[in-house]
Amino acid sequence: MTMMGVTPGESPASLYLPEEAHIVRIEELTDMEKLFEIKFADGRALGHHPGQFVQFSVLGVGECPISICSSPTRPESFELCIRRVGEVTSHIHQLQVDDSIGIRGPLGHGFDVDEMHGKDVLIVAGGLGMAPARSLIQYIMDERQRFGEFHLLYGAREPKELLFRDELALWRKSDDVNFHVTVDRPDEQWRGKSGVVTTLFRELPKLDPAETMVVIIGPPIMFKFVVLEVLSRRVPQKSIYCSLERRMKCGVGKCGHCQVNNVYVCQEGPVFKYGDLKAMREALE
Ligand SMILES: Cc1cc2nc3c(=O)[nH]c(=O)nc-3n(C[C@H](O)[C@H](O)[C@H](O)COP(=O)(O)OP(=O)(O)OC[C@H]3O[C@@H](n4cnc5c(N)ncnc54)[C@H](O)[C@@H]3O)c2cc1C
Ligand code: FES
Repeated sequence: MTMMGVTPGESPASLYLPEEAHIVRIEELTDMEKLFEIKFADGRALGHHPGQFVQFSVLGVGECPISICSSPTRPESFELCIRRVGEVTSHIHQLQVDDSIGIRGPLGHGFDVDEMHGKDVLIVAGGLGMAPARSLIQYIMDERQRFGEFHLLYGAREPKELLFRDELALWRKSDDVNFHVTVDRPDEQWRGKSGVVTTLFRELPKLDPAETMVVIIGPPIMFKFVVLEVLSRRVPQKSIYCSLERRMKCGVGKCGHCQVNNVYVCQEGPVFKYGDLKAMREALE
């Protein structure tokens, strides 16, 4: 596969050993999600590709896989958007600025941005999928001259679940991206579009199938319908990327928790080409 990241079999220490890092900023994004800006204690850059993840550990509690949501073009620190769902993430939400944590990674394979250079790009993000998508969005915005047209479609269930609202406002005004957002269930204050994310396809100009790379990141149900929209616009399967989140433990191909058929998603993914995923039938269910 051609995704960018650690080659299976390579074993830098950062795969196995949590390295000390510090939280330098915390921002409450929604009732459930917080953004954590993090720096390694030794000051080194994370050195990731958009689409990769890290294992975030809290001493004495545990660790969990979290997508990197900032771009490697901003190497002074890195950011993680974390939803509070259970044991480890609840402890993470109680952490404060200056607290010390452990980071393993970057792990997995991300998007092959070299393959996207010179192409038009369409990103479709749903729900928490906006977190890994943001790493690639920031990358494209920072390296804008290297890409053709840039379309971004984002759907959330409710207005209060929208992530990165300050950036959404900037993207809406920017000439560098054709950005549209929708919510499934609007509230009284919502003045934007409503409906599932596929309804935003009507906002797109005609895509050039041979010149467009598509990235889909969101829950499996969204993925299914978005892929149909994209294929109906004749974009070839090899030009469609998606990011797959399976249950993971080790993150480095040792425990088998993430295995689909004979593929370790933590190593060969989480980013896959649609054509490769189709061969892994269980992955799409
Ligand atoms: C590659 C990858 C990237 C991820 N990126 C992010 C991210 O950017 N931000 C983020 O908030 N979360 C992300 N997750 C999910 C995150 O890892 C889990 O939410 C976390 O491990 C839960 O740990 P916990 O101890 O708090 O919850 P637990 O106590 O283990 O579980 C609490 C509840 O969450 C469910 N749950 C646990 N793990 C997952 C999972 N992987 N997917 C869906 N449901 C789960 C459990 O079934 C249970 O209902 C990612 C997962 C993977 C595999
Ligand atoms: S998470 Fe252990 S093998 Fe993938």
